Amino acid sequence: MNKTALITGGTSGIGLELAKLFAKDGYKLIIVARDQQELDTTQSLLKQQSGVEVITIAKDLFNPESAAELYAEVRAKGIAVDVLVNNAGQGQYGHFADADLQRLLAIIQLNVSSLVALTHPFLNDFIARGEGKILNLSSIASKVPGPWQAVYHGTKAFVQSFTESIRSEVKDKGITVTALLPGVTDTDFFNKADMNSSKVVQDKDQMADPADVAKDGYDALMSGDDMIVSGMKNKMQVGMAAVTPDSMLADSMKKQQEPAKKDK
Ligand SMILES: NC(=O)c1ccc[n+]([C@@H]2O[C@H](COP(=O)([O-])OP(=O)(O)OC[C@H]3O[C@@H](n4cnc5c(N)ncnc54)[C@H](OP(=O)(O)O)[C@@H]3O)[C@@H](O)[C@H]2O)c1
Repeated sequence: MNKTALITGGTSGIGLELAKLFAKDGYKLIIVARDQQELDTTQSLLKQQSGVEVITIAKDLFNPESAAELYAEVRAKGIAVDVLVNNAGQGQYGHFADADLQRLLAIIQLNVSSLVALTHPFLNDFIARGEGKILNLSSIASKVPGPWQAVYHGTKAFVQSFTESIRSEVKDKGITVTALLPGVTDTDFFNKADMNSSKVVQDKDQMADPADVAKDGYDALMSGDDMIVSGMKNKMQVGMAAVTPDSMLADSMKKQQEPAKKDK
């Protein structure tokens, strides 16, 4: 019987590319996002490309109840999930003091609380079955403080720490937990984050291809690795960050992420 992968945010960017890789390997898919039309389009694309069964579930993981509802809907369909991919995530660009607090709290809900709330029941199922795999979308942002994206970097630091912690807790139970750490990748992330004015997104040629990033994550997940930093430049950046004081990293990130034109 085909294995099943559940991917949050499977309709765009890195999540869509991950979905294509699972489909190519014959996984049945459950893809989750907010927009039912995008889900339908992605379902058709994946079915056309690989002929696998694709189930769509529309959920807004900004809502605190959505993770539990999603788990209940999957259970009600009688599907056993083999791989959980916590990919859906958003950021918000700008100085913390100027930002809409409700938007920042929603991002913490999506990137942190919903991820935890979804992981908990599925991990318990995996423990009961003695097998299962989890891929969490972390970021190289998890390794450095991020002025202009203070809350986003904080959420990814949580995801990275959480991933390594639960991985250690369950590593003798037949379960692997893997973190994927992309750098700047060419997706819709920056539009959603109102970040197109930032210096880091001015040069599209410098952005990673989401297909390459997904492949790195997929391979690390299948190998059961603890984490993968996608891309040589990003690996070097993470290596340097490990030996640089946080205060210096924060000041350096402030310069890198500021608006390209000083119109504020
Ligand atoms: N792009 C980068 O440079 C980069 C770098 C490092 C890490 N990452 C991480 O990679 C992950 C994927 O991001 P991406 O760059 O591929 O972004 P993307 O192209 O914007 O894709 C985001 C996906 O998540 C879904 N989503 C967004 N908000 C949601 C919500 N509230 N509830 C349910 N689904 C939601 C989106 O669909 P709907 O909008 O229809 O809901 C979409 O399918 C994120 O966790 C991000 O933090 C990205």
